[in-house]
Amino acid sequence: MDVTYVLLLSSLGLAQVIAQDCRVPVGGNNMGFKDDLPQTFPNGTKVIFECNVGYMPAGSPSITCTNGTWSPVKLTCERKSCGSAGEVENGDLNYEGTEFGDKLVVTCKTGYIMVGNSQFTCGKDGWLGGRLPVCEAVACDAPPMLTNGDFSPVRDSYNYLEVVQYKCQKDYTMNGSSLSSCSKDGKFQPAPPTCIVVQCKDPDVTNGEWMSGSRPPYKYKSAVTLQCIPGYNMNGAQTQRCELNSQWAPGLPTCEPVLCEDPDVKNAAKEEGSKPPYKVKSTVTFSCVSGYTMTGTRTQTCGLNGQWAPGLPTCAPVLCEDPDVKNAAKEEGSKPPYKVKSTVTFSCVSGYTMTGTRTQTCGLNGQWAPGLPTCEPVLCEDPDVKNAAKEEGSKPPYKVKSTVTFSCVSGYTMTGTRTQTCGLNGQWAPGLPTCARDSGTVDPPENKGNGMAIGLGLGLTVLIGSVLTVLGCYFCGVPACIKEKKRKRPVGPALLAVKISG
Ligand SMILES: *[C@@H]1O[C@H](CO)[C@@H](O)[C@H](O)[C@H]1NC(C)=O
Repeated sequence: MDVTYVLLLSSLGLAQVIAQDCRVPVGGNNMGFKDDLPQTFPNGTKVIFECNVGYMPAGSPSITCTNGTWSPVKLTCERKSCGSAGEVENGDLNYEGTEFGDKLVVTCKTGYIMVGNSQFTCGKDGWLGGRLPVCEAVACDAPPMLTNGDFSPVRDSYNYLEVVQYKCQKDYTMNGSSLSSCSKDGKFQPAPPTCIVVQCKDPDVTNGEWMSGSRPPYKYKSAVTLQCIPGYNMNGAQTQRCELNSQWAPGLPTCEPVLCEDPDVKNAAKEEGSKPPYKVKSTVTFSCVSGYTMTGTRTQTCGLNGQWAPGLPTCAPVLCEDPDVKNAAKEEGSKPPYKVKSTVTFSCVSGYTMTGTRTQTCGLNGQWAPGLPTCEPVLCEDPDVKNAAKEEGSKPPYKVKSTVTFSCVSGYTMTGTRTQTCGLNGQWAPGLPTCARDSGTVDPPENKGNGMAIGLGLGLTVLIGSVLTVLGCYFCGVPACIKEKKRKRPVGPALLAVKISG
């Protein structure tokens, strides 16, 4: 190269020496220089362009440097075209393009399978990749025979989309699809099933039992419904199905003992008894705390339904009844309801007197303690006035306001008030009178009840007898005597005689 330039320079002479050099020329698209180039190009230098690989040249490839300027580039480079690659029966040619570098992919129509190369590229000398492929119709070989089953129809070869149907022998269950078809890849899809023996074991659940459904042997899709024995609750699904893997689905349940909740009764304590967890037949006995009383049953038993039977009792505060004392009034004190330790104080109404304790306290047993008092009518004693007789008037017992009227016996004169009234204080009011002997009259004997009276004069005997009769009758309380008393005189001696003999 350097030699060429040297030769050119020497032949052009002095005029060329002063002419300008050209710089590196710029070519068109898809072209390059045929040779390596120097840095500077003297006047008259020729440079030749060349199209890149895969491009077709048109026009003159050379340019010349004239006085520092290159002549115009006439060369153009067009991409090479490979044109049609041909035809594939039952296939499609899918061109990216048909020019240099473009790709071509061949596909077979559905139901056809490709034999040969499917990818081609447009090269500088035409399509690269060899011969076009062939699309052959799909065919499947017969599927493998089934163990414990068969299929139909049976042939050597099956066309695309042809279907076979599988069957399992008696007592065998098919695991998979019963239908399979010849697919585009030349194989049966889905894969053939298998024929298997399905047998589920007896569904054995502790404290459970068969309730309804299939009976053994349990084959595929057998279903049983189970239940727990009384006192047990089921945890899990009641109904189970025998699955292909000879297992029950969704899985056998369990039977858990029925438990009663820890029972709680307000204001009560549990006495010795069962401890949690409370199984069926556990018992718990309650007692109310002090001051509370139970309604219901003390001892409860955990029932099959998980509930306490006969039902929890309640403890309510002990209350004493509203106390009622006849002829008495309640003074200020507690008001109903009367809880334990309430107190009530009574006072008898006018004319009545109390026996017992005024202030009562409601006890733990709901009874008033020490026990309700009573109010008895105030009574005056049987009044006795010496040498006097009671006239008609009140009879014992002498209640308040009873009256007794006295009259002195013959020969005696009264001092005081004849008629006495029983007062609220149990005393006769205004106070018993006295009978004093009139002057000139014989004194009465000291002891009226004494047998010595017999010794007295006959005239007095009758009189004294009468007095004794009245007194005697009151002492002995014989009703007959009281009746007799009204006749007075005739009876006196008879009674007297009895007293003597006694
Ligand atoms: C049923 O077939 C499937 C798929 O082949 C397999 O995974 C499974 O184990 C089979 N089941 C039984 C119970 O044989």
